[in-house]
Amino acid sequence: MHIVHIAVEMAPIAKVGGLGDVVTSLSRAVQDLNHSVDIILPKYDCMKISHVKDLHYQRSYSWGGTEIKVWFGKVEGLSVYFLEPQNGMFWAGCVYGCKNDGERFGFFCHAALEFLQQSGFHPDIIHCHDWSSAPVAWLFKDHYMHYGLSKSRVVFTIHNLEFGANNIGKAMAYSDKATTNISLLLLLFLQVSPTYSREISGNPLIASHLHKFHGILNGIDPDIWDPYNDTYIPVPYTSENVVEGKRAAKEALQQRLGLKRADLPLVGIITRLTHQKGIHLIKHAIWRTLERGGQVVLLGSAPDPRVQNDFVNLANHLHSSHHDRARLCLTYDEPLSHLIYAGADFILVPSIFEPCGLTQLTAMRYGSIAVVRKTGGLFDTVFDVDHDKERAKAQGLEPNGFNFDGADPAGVDYALNRAISAWYDGRDWFNSLCKKVMEQDWSWNKPALDYLELYHSARK
Ligand code: ADP
Ligand code: GLC
Repeated sequence: MHIVHIAVEMAPIAKVGGLGDVVTSLSRAVQDLNHSVDIILPKYDCMKISHVKDLHYQRSYSWGGTEIKVWFGKVEGLSVYFLEPQNGMFWAGCVYGCKNDGERFGFFCHAALEFLQQSGFHPDIIHCHDWSSAPVAWLFKDHYMHYGLSKSRVVFTIHNLEFGANNIGKAMAYSDKATTNISLLLLLFLQVSPTYSREISGNPLIASHLHKFHGILNGIDPDIWDPYNDTYIPVPYTSENVVEGKRAAKEALQQRLGLKRADLPLVGIITRLTHQKGIHLIKHAIWRTLERGGQVVLLGSAPDPRVQNDFVNLANHLHSSHHDRARLCLTYDEPLSHLIYAGADFILVPSIFEPCGLTQLTAMRYGSIAVVRKTGGLFDTVFDVDHDKERAKAQGLEPNGFNFDGADPAGVDYALNRAISAWYDGRDWFNSLCKKVMEQDWSWNKPALDYLELYHSARK
């Protein structure tokens, strides 16, 4: 099968969040199963070009009153076509954040379909993602499927219903199959998830298209996130030497950030600082961890300058009150994120809602214990050591972390207190838990097969 992704993010060259990770890792997994995968991406001026191999100009075409240059290169072993409109639309220094993002991405979607048609491509599946490439679905149905792309089918994945709801609603009406990492839809059909399924099934956008929905949980790429082959951490490790590997990573992290107390449990938080991620719970957890004798490293940035400023103030405050035990790194830093996943004892994810969430999965890959709020994909992937034995067993798993209900401080306290006490009280038990979570498989091994099945069914 030939699959073409039309997307606006791709890790590691143009990643803002999990969407970028998924475009790369799902494509690699499907390609490894011997299918042919191409990606079409805008050529941003801010792209991390050093990660693109053999980038070269291919040709130009005209569309929408402008010349569009087509570049080709390889990213993580995947073939990527970069579209560069000469009207400068993607020379804005950022992926998102322009006043005319809707117009920019709408233009890109149209240009991408035009590129496929003019190049004589006949992909079996055109896969688009979220609001930003949702226009592909209706442009295709209104126009391109009647011309050169009549053999193709469109699959649309909703990563986050909060963004661009109008575009998403319109695309769902036009796509052949809609998927969502939103475990709630899985849960809706398999009746496993209370929280998010309730939220989304009530959404009028979703209700009339439920028959097209398939919930497929995301995976992570075990080669990209691999503590045995990670150049950003000091000692390679597997589950066999997890204790030594994580100790070395913790020391390196502490050294890098000027933290002095390696003998204390370390809670890491890696996140966009937005409402979705539970900002008030994050702040509370920082103070609670410090009170309980732990230390905290937060890596995050806020698209909203007021939130960013608020965290800058908190960082300054902590710098004077808890200089030896707290660091807030208010930026985007991929290498540092690797060191935190490896060096932290816990990764906290107290999201208010979380369609899937990748940080808890990456945490487990690095033997860090996830502490999460029970919502969406966090609910589906993190099973509490004290409460979820049966629920984990039903998935063929053993409990792997700590979780909590509610959106108030008491919930976070409940999970965090138990987690920190477990670290202090039972080191052997804790180390064996780290080993156990590393051995759980959160890769694309299974979900990629589910996607393929879906691609096949879209072709029928
Ligand atoms: P979302 O897509 O909603 O932001 P996910 O959990 O799906 O949440 O994915 C977030 C991805 O972005 C993860 O790969 C995480 O490691 C990464 N990430 C988030 N914030 C930062 C940051 N400040 N620096 C580096 N990586 C980050
Ligand atoms: C979105 C969601 C996140 C999900 C990611 C990748 O950004 O917020 O939960 O993991 O997409 O699908």
